[in-house]
Amino acid sequence: MLAVIGGSGLTQLANLEVTRREVVRTPFGEPSGALTFGCIGCQDVVFLARHGYGHTIPPHQVNYRANLWALARVAGAAGIVSVGSVGGIRADLKPGMLATPNQILDYTWGRNVTFHEGNGAQVTHIDFTEPYDSELRQQLLAAAQRAGETLLDGGVYAATQGPRLETAAEVNRLERDGADMVGMTGMPEASLARELGVPYATICVVTNWAAGRGDSRNTIIFAKIEEVLQASLSRVRRIIGHLCEAGDRV
Ligand code: HPA
Repeated sequence: MLAVIGGSGLTQLANLEVTRREVVRTPFGEPSGALTFGCIGCQDVVFLARHGYGHTIPPHQVNYRANLWALARVAGAAGIVSVGSVGGIRADLKPGMLATPNQILDYTWGRNVTFHEGNGAQVTHIDFTEPYDSELRQQLLAAAQRAGETLLDGGVYAATQGPRLETAAEVNRLERDGADMVGMTGMPEASLARELGVPYATICVVTNWAAGRGDSRNTIIFAKIEEVLQASLSRVRRIIGHLCEAGDRV
């Protein structure tokens, strides 16, 4: 079973043949919405819209623990592909590009970051040297190639708190820190997946130049973000479609 977490704009997978929807509860509360089960080709898929089906949950209020628990432990996902929008910092990450990052810088705060707390739970550390699963990333890159879509290989994803966008000075700092792209939802999603031992990789849609860059030098226009997002999501769906049809079952 492959899980897909849809980000802004991706509240459903058009190529998913839906078989059922299920509202699930977890020890960590309620996920962002019902799980949508179905298949793409012969691949069983479970889909969840990260911000809810009506896009009502902001990045800092997403119940990441419930989402990951529901997909991994209730639905039994063996791999998770998440989709998120980002601002481009690196010069080649221009609006409309797709990338699968290989590293993370985490600037989020106040989010529930571990399953291992409370009720006498043992303190548990995870190795997070490579935050994304390299095999799943390679499968995504191969799927993109078969789909004829350009998916940039690697890059450092900076996770910010949101929901506001960054200042130009903050983006300068992110760049000095080594960030190539900036989004609001990549953490703690990735580390929670690691805690559960489920391979996790991300497709990032560059929807805008990060603050102070390119044509975002003075202001970021939200209508343009939306336009780029809508134009890009069909490409994301095609990549996921090819991933599912690859035969290497997740
Ligand atoms: N910053 C943070 N998150 C984002 C951006 C951005 O510029 N664009 C899309 N998600």
